[in-house]
Amino acid sequence: MDQSDQGRILAGKVAVVTGSARGIGKAIALALAHRGADVVVSDVDLAGAQAAAAEIAGLGRRSLAVPCNVARREEVDALIGRAAGELGRLDILVNNAGITRDTLLVRMTEEQWDLVLDINLKGTFFGCAAAARVMMKARTGKIVNLASITGLIGNVGQANYSASKAGVIALTRTVAKELAGRNIQVNAVAPGFIETEMTRELPEKARESFLANIPLGRAGTPADVAALVCFLASPEADYITGQCVTIDGGLTIQ
Ligand code: NAI
Repeated sequence: MDQSDQGRILAGKVAVVTGSARGIGKAIALALAHRGADVVVSDVDLAGAQAAAAEIAGLGRRSLAVPCNVARREEVDALIGRAAGELGRLDILVNNAGITRDTLLVRMTEEQWDLVLDINLKGTFFGCAAAARVMMKARTGKIVNLASITGLIGNVGQANYSASKAGVIALTRTVAKELAGRNIQVNAVAPGFIETEMTRELPEKARESFLANIPLGRAGTPADVAALVCFLASPEADYITGQCVTIDGGLTIQ
């Protein structure tokens, strides 16, 4: 590819990002738009999604704000339907929506387990399945799923969350195998400690211990993660599929 094309490497592509009203999802939506993509912003927080969509429209891209709870299959199907219907195609899906309900195993309720698994893992399954139907017909597409280093190494207080993210990694590998024959690449990213409202909820001690163990000496930013997701969503990553790329400032270096 001509280097001069890289600034608009995603021009003409249509992307959907779940949970993109704030945090990492919003940074991904904006980064995709900066690279030329039209972007559907979706979230349970419709006002936040509308604000993010307005920012994207300000960049000169087409944008849509769609309310969607990823734990509800009919809402995910409707989201993908609107993206493909109103923007004409679907090239990129980023399954980003995710939550935590942290507590030690012995105190964890079934409700806390189910809520986290329903949103983080089942929601990703719903997204992959809905997007696959559109992308398989087009014989092209990229899916990027948000995992976490906790899905690789575990974390005290996150039995539900780490299990959901390990599930996302395994789901990614399987979907990559199933869709490879249709030229659809499916990858996951596993961020470490990223400064967002999700990590702001962590107790000060846990934050300090994370930061002390990051070789690069700082927390990650949503923009750090967004740059990696954009790469995996771009034609430059056409030969990468079924991978889980860690982005953690070296936190998990053994
Ligand atoms: P955040 O809490 O700042 O933002 C999450 C967004 O998802 C919010 O806009 C929220 O309204 C939305 N959301 C929540 N439940 C939803 C549902 N059922 N359907 C649709 N949208 C929903 O979180 P953050 O930090 O931006 O995380 C984004 C993703 O990155 C998550 O999957 C998270 O697990 C993952 N991640 C975050 C890390 C971090 O350090 N912040 C580290 C590793 C992974």
